[in-house]
Amino acid sequence: MLRPGRIADTVGAVSQLKGVILAGGKATRLRPLTYVTNKHLLPVYDKPLIYYPLEAIARAGVEEVLLITNPEHAGHFLQLLRTGSEFGLRITYELQEEAGGLAQAVGLAEPFARGSKLLVILGDNIFTHDLSASVERFRSESHGAVIFAKEVDEPEHYGVVELDGERVVSIEEKPAQPKSSLAQTGIYLYDERVFSFMDQLAPSGRGELEITDLNNIYLEEGSLRCETLDGWWIDAGTSHDELLAANITVAELRRRGEL
Ligand code: DAU
Repeated sequence: MLRPGRIADTVGAVSQLKGVILAGGKATRLRPLTYVTNKHLLPVYDKPLIYYPLEAIARAGVEEVLLITNPEHAGHFLQLLRTGSEFGLRITYELQEEAGGLAQAVGLAEPFARGSKLLVILGDNIFTHDLSASVERFRSESHGAVIFAKEVDEPEHYGVVELDGERVVSIEEKPAQPKSSLAQTGIYLYDERVFSFMDQLAPSGRGELEITDLNNIYLEEGSLRCETLDGWWIDAGTSHDELLAANITVAELRRRGEL
């Protein structure tokens, strides 16, 4: 069982910080597996996919988590995760009625956040990187947002980050001509102002409020940082092949005691 490293409460200039996991969406790319349950409950080696981001949040020292999912299989999460005590977490649940995009889902966390900063993780991301140092640093910063990038072979499938040193020059969602091989992973830190930016967003070509557009608001303000992930990272939810790759790599990492 994982234990949180530190309770996220307010000490001096250090802000409160809560976790949010996005586990909704339609998961059409993983049909027929996803007709009977939610993608994030599919197995990755010996655990359901959702365990990995939950464990990452606990490892980062964050205790309170909101899990946002769609109505179809919401009960399955409750059955499996209950209060979250197995992970050393307190899990609250919220429904996203329609898959209106990642930024729309983040917006649903407003009543839960109650003035806290947020660590947001997409429920299909698995990674070995320990986020605790980044979370600690962010809690002591006055404002802004952080994205986490990772070198990948096919950047056109992701949000693509262009960097100048630590400074983010651009982020483009699944561009045909990527400006770098750095993928924006599904891990984000936001200050408490994130909800006030929601009304600046408009649906994209695919009819969703995009997280990349949200991040670009911070970029334009000059308050967006990018950190690079160490170790291994995968977005396991994009295809059957990526889900298989996640299973194989997790089994190997577990044998080596690295996950
Ligand atoms: O994983 C990294 C990538 O995740 C980033 O590089 C992209 O910038 C970001 O847009 C996202 O791209 P995806 O194509 O992987 O997003 P996807 O639609 O698969 O959704 C990611 C997760 O969020 C997935 O676990 C389901 C959940 N989700 C998705 C939507 C559209 C929701 O909870 N609500 C939603 O409305």
